[in-house]
Amino acid sequence: MIKIATVIGTRPEIIKMAPILDQLEKKGINNILIHTGQHYDHEMSQQFFLDLEIKKPDYNIGVGSNSHGKQTADMIKSIEEVLIAEKPDLIMVQGDTNAVLAGALTASKLHMAVGHVEAGLRSYDKTMPEEINRQIADICSTMFFVPTEESAVNLLIENINPHEIFITGNTVVDACIRHLKIAERESNILTELKVTGDIVTLTMHRAENVDNPERLRNIVEALLELDDLTVIFPVHPRTLKTLKKFGFYNKLESAPNIKLTKPIGYLDFILLLSKSKFVMTDSGGLQEEAITLNVPCMTLRYNTERPETVTAGGNILVGAEKEKILDVYKQISGDPRLYKKMKNAKNPYGDGKSSENILKAVLTAYNAGKFDINAPEEMEGHVVRELLTINEDVTVSKYEQMNPAYTVNMVFQDNEIKFPHPDLNLKNKMIMFQIQD
Ligand code: UD1
Ligand code: UDP
Repeated sequence: MIKIATVIGTRPEIIKMAPILDQLEKKGINNILIHTGQHYDHEMSQQFFLDLEIKKPDYNIGVGSNSHGKQTADMIKSIEEVLIAEKPDLIMVQGDTNAVLAGALTASKLHMAVGHVEAGLRSYDKTMPEEINRQIADICSTMFFVPTEESAVNLLIENINPHEIFITGNTVVDACIRHLKIAERESNILTELKVTGDIVTLTMHRAENVDNPERLRNIVEALLELDDLTVIFPVHPRTLKTLKKFGFYNKLESAPNIKLTKPIGYLDFILLLSKSKFVMTDSGGLQEEAITLNVPCMTLRYNTERPETVTAGGNILVGAEKEKILDVYKQISGDPRLYKKMKNAKNPYGDGKSSENILKAVLTAYNAGKFDINAPEEMEGHVVRELLTINEDVTVSKYEQMNPAYTVNMVFQDNEIKFPHPDLNLKNKMIMFQIQD
């Protein structure tokens, strides 16, 4: 019977892995949960185990806060010990934190299969630690669970075999849908915060914003001018440190339009979000949740690895300059048509069945023996890639059945690269295919 090890370390991983852990428990699958302990405050970790009803971790490595090198090295050392002792068939990691880097790298060096949940996201900004983590995790992975076709195409361009890519949606939608219903019954957050009138929920913690005094000053000054609504700002511990260090905390605390709080538990947070007129954030997860809950989002960044939210029309990148933030805010709030368009943007992240889709793919791959990591059989063989226009009425899977040595890597249609879905008809389309000599 399959044995799965799941690695988590920070708040978003706990939230986004929760639906998968729930599926594993429901299906009675042998699984061990490894918490690296990167997030350790009650309100950054334990609270989410309670809110999302997750079992206690089987291992807590307790790495705590440190430099990236030291923190990642400590994780690698301890994860390796656990994996050698537990011998799981598959290690699942989620997202782009240091836990993902450590989990995926360690497992792949032990020749163990890795399933990367939320694979294929790219900002192409190598100053972000997350971009390095997600790219390395993808190099080490065996199964790629991507939220959208766009992220699948990113992987195709990096020469990942389409048969290893599964477009599953994002598990954040599963978590969001399930817990909003519970939150609507149980959460009193709006009364507790004594909120009246319109609110904007704000979060930020991205190193490039909050560790940079100039950017942080710009954002703070913009917030102080948003005086026609209440800004609810649950402050991430990293941000708390630098707001105090750079002398901005007191200004925010004494502003009548701003309510600072500790980080908020998931049920309360998701309710707060659903009742917000806007979201302002540099968080990855919030960009996804905002479009899931029909809340227009202003992202305090210059790039995003979630471009689908922008092309769908629900998210605008405003960067970290005071004037730009205020201009876009005025534009959206002063234009009911634009506001409505943003609110009604179509959620690109699926229908809340992502964790089910992931588990189905995992079990199918396991039963087909895909988790045995071996050297290629034909060491002298090399891969040939060619382009071809297909004239027949034939689907991708039919084409591959007819040509067993071929894999359809990409399909070109309307000047775009398309993922080769098995049932995609190839008539009059150009393909790039690969032949194993
Ligand atoms: C980490 C992830 C980031 C993710 C974020 C989610 C990496 C490289 N970064 O960033 O991708 O978006 O989590 O929130 O993995 N601290 C506490 N208590 C805690 C945790 C942290 O006080 O429970 C403070 C410490 O001072 C620490 C700082 O916050 O130095 C930053 O924490 P760290 O885990 O290094 O990075 P995050 O900014 O949380
Ligand atoms: N979140 C929360 N309480 C808060 C702030 C965020 O529950 O006070 C949740 C939010 O709903 C989302 C996740 O935390 O699911 C996002 O985590 P974070 O912004 O820390 O990380 P990122 O997604 O940027 O990696």
